[in-house]
Amino acid sequence: MKVLVTGGAGYIGSHTCKALAKAGHEITVFDNLCYGHRDFAKWGPLIEGDLANREEIEKALDSQRFDGVIHFAAYAYVGESVDHPQKYYQNNVVGTLNLLDAMLQHDVKNIVFSSTCATYGMVTKVPITEDFDQAPINPYGHTKLMIEQILKDYDHAYGLKSVALRYFNAAGDDADEEIGEWHDPEPHLIPLAILAALGKRPALKIFGTDYPTPDGTAIRDYIHVADLAMAHVQSLDYLQNGGETGQFNLGTGNGYSVQQIVDTIGKVSGTPVPHQMAPRRAGDPAELVADASVAKQILGFNPTSSDLETIIKTAWNWHKNHPVPD
Ligand SMILES: NC(=O)c1ccc[n+]([C@@H]2O[C@H](COP(=O)([O-])OP(=O)(O)OC[C@H]3O[C@@H](n4cnc5c(N)ncnc54)[C@H](O)[C@@H]3O)[C@@H](O)[C@H]2O)c1
Repeated sequence: MKVLVTGGAGYIGSHTCKALAKAGHEITVFDNLCYGHRDFAKWGPLIEGDLANREEIEKALDSQRFDGVIHFAAYAYVGESVDHPQKYYQNNVVGTLNLLDAMLQHDVKNIVFSSTCATYGMVTKVPITEDFDQAPINPYGHTKLMIEQILKDYDHAYGLKSVALRYFNAAGDDADEEIGEWHDPEPHLIPLAILAALGKRPALKIFGTDYPTPDGTAIRDYIHVADLAMAHVQSLDYLQNGGETGQFNLGTGNGYSVQQIVDTIGKVSGTPVPHQMAPRRAGDPAELVADASVAKQILGFNPTSSDLETIIKTAWNWHKNHPVPD
């Protein structure tokens, strides 16, 4: 298939491009490089363009006849979204509307969309199934939930088919170290902990030690980025084979606490993670763990790299061998 990948120069997007290329698909990346990296677009041409600019999207879609779009491009900093909601609604929601309208214009009828477990909000029980109430507690989560709704409406009215993948915590890096996680600023636990262990960042702050979990720290479901990438390839196949619009959780069903992550990094790397305890952060639920059985059953989702050691090993190797330039 010929696939347009928005945000394909970013973390999950670049890993997905690698998986798509390996599966024999032809990809084109559309990215404005606001957070992406030119070097990460290795598996097909990069069109530098912004979803805010309808003409640039039209031009990209004019360049060839695409069978589908995978849509990663968005802003994804939860805290920033609280302070600057306008930025988030503009880029994530308006940008997506621009993309969808251009797709309709070009008769491209399949899209795989990066949604998130943040659309569920403050859940009080796990594992989380797709039919849980969705009640985001920040503008970032709202933008993703709005897009899920827009996609359902666009299917109903225009026959645009979509798969919305609700990722839990994306983690780990390419085993060949061709690409990796390079966010600036970096909001995610595993890179922050590894960079602290490597002496490149201050001691890790563990937010909340009094949660109702076995060791008091918050529990999350970490899914290796290579497994996420494969799920996009499978989603595209599913749509191409006439699959219906749907929403799917992507996680492992196993939860690990922040303390377990810190301990495993120390064990795997032989380097302890300097850390300090801090109070809970507002809006962090005690536990977020996916039930991904629907994705397994319908998409063939089958995570094979998401055991914690593999996640940590690949992340450690990436960050140790590919220091971010100062
Ligand atoms: N990383 C996670 O754990 C996680 C979890 C849930 C959902 N998501 C979602 O997955 C997607 C990818 O996340 P990521 O961690 O790879 O982020 P990322 O920042 O590494 O990648 C996003 C890419 O989109 C590009 N982009 C942003 N706005 C654009 C625009 N207007 N036009 C063109 N390109 C634009 C950026 O330059 C970047 O390359 C995002 O939509 C995010 O909300 C990520």
